[in-house]
Amino acid sequence: MDRREFLKNLGVAGAGALALTSPWLSTFASVDDSAHERCRLGMIGPGSRGRFLLEFLSKNPKCEMVAFADIYQPSLDAALEMVPSAKTYTDYHQLLEDKSIDGVVIATPLNTHYQIAMDAFDAGKHVYCEKAIAYTMEETLAIYRKHLETGLVFFTGQQRLFDPRYIKVMDMVHQGVFGDINAVHAFWNRNGDWRREVPSPELERLINWRLYKESSKGLMTELACHQLQVGTWALGKLPVRVMGTGAITHWKDGREVYDNVHCIYEFDDGRQMTYASVISNKFYGLEEQILGHTGTVEPERGKFYFEDYGPAPAPAFVQMLMEWEDKIWGANTFAGSSWDPEVARNNPGEYILGKSPEMDGTSLLTEAFVDAVCTKRQPPRIAEEGYYATQLCLIGHEAIVQGKPLPFPEAMKIEYKPYGTKGSEK
Ligand SMILES: NC(=O)c1ccc[n+]([C@@H]2O[C@H](COP(=O)([O-])OP(=O)(O)OC[C@H]3O[C@@H](n4cnc5c(N)ncnc54)[C@H](O)[C@@H]3O)[C@@H](O)[C@H]2O)c1
Repeated sequence: MDRREFLKNLGVAGAGALALTSPWLSTFASVDDSAHERCRLGMIGPGSRGRFLLEFLSKNPKCEMVAFADIYQPSLDAALEMVPSAKTYTDYHQLLEDKSIDGVVIATPLNTHYQIAMDAFDAGKHVYCEKAIAYTMEETLAIYRKHLETGLVFFTGQQRLFDPRYIKVMDMVHQGVFGDINAVHAFWNRNGDWRREVPSPELERLINWRLYKESSKGLMTELACHQLQVGTWALGKLPVRVMGTGAITHWKDGREVYDNVHCIYEFDDGRQMTYASVISNKFYGLEEQILGHTGTVEPERGKFYFEDYGPAPAPAFVQMLMEWEDKIWGANTFAGSSWDPEVARNNPGEYILGKSPEMDGTSLLTEAFVDAVCTKRQPPRIAEEGYYATQLCLIGHEAIVQGKPLPFPEAMKIEYKPYGTKGSEK
């Protein structure tokens, strides 16, 4: 989608509202400045996610993908099929030595992000690093500080920041359309073992890095990272405390990371954000339910629902069933339930963008990164939003491991006001 068309189609109330809700979109305002600019990018770790990003980057006329670095030859071969002209390296340091490369995209396993990102900044490269930013809170802070010290562009793989559904609905949330938001229920459920096929046993830990403690923090860093950011974006504040539990309850196959996690993030005013992820049942799928006192938002589904929705007339066959039920229960003087279940299923809601979602924000996120590298301008608050997304998933994981509630550490706070709060537009 063309960016201008995208911004127009959102129909949010002007640039001022966008600046408050999603200030990083201002990067698209500098599109004209960079119209004649091009940049040269390298990718470190063109695996599954890397090659998905490459689909967009390789078609972007403002950027040339000039090099790939990976320790696994099949990943290099697959990337070369997409961009045959690129150079390839088996050691990322060699890619970083190429002075003609302006920026790098890092899409390696979590535990490698810190060293690669720090080396990339030291080599003077702008950095897009996939989420989560790093394996520990300290490493995440160090990377963020390095970005500030060097003044180089820093993006993270939080594509919901560029997803039209989210941008539009956050504008509505921040305008109070759904009343006070008192809770967010985020969850991501799948039914699968999360394993990838391994061509030979010595490659197990390289390919299934997600399943091992040395390289991953499992569901919290891989999935929660996206959804916690949505919660803080909606609530306009950061939680002060988190408690949680986690276990391996189903996939007892030698993995080391939990397949079942539940956390509660508490805010200073008592509001709550819950996070749950189970990978042995997919019925409820993925959602961030934003619960306001006059309405509910389900951005993944692309819908919102007002509380005072009147039920639609029951279809004929349902009426027939109800009459049938009446006859049975009506004959029994003790029949009838003592409560009315409050169920959501009767409210059809409305689409946020007038139809089912067709895209996520990844293409616009990569475009924004390219524009930022071309103009050498960091869009406001994008690094900070990624920073807190990572820190919240890491502190949640730590609360699970320690088995006790943990405050958000003072030492990990950075200067930042979440979107939608007073003063955040500056
Ligand atoms: N934003 C999103 O929605 C999203 C989705 C999926 C994955 N991710 C993130 O992308 C990253 C990669 O995930 P993936 O699923 O593509 O993993 P993957 O295993 O498919 O790809 C990782 C690649 O990095 C390579 N690699 C490993 N160590 C390396 C090193 N030291 N130097 C160079 N290359 C190295 C591997 O050989 C592989 O080709 C993770 O951080 C993950 O969380 C983000």
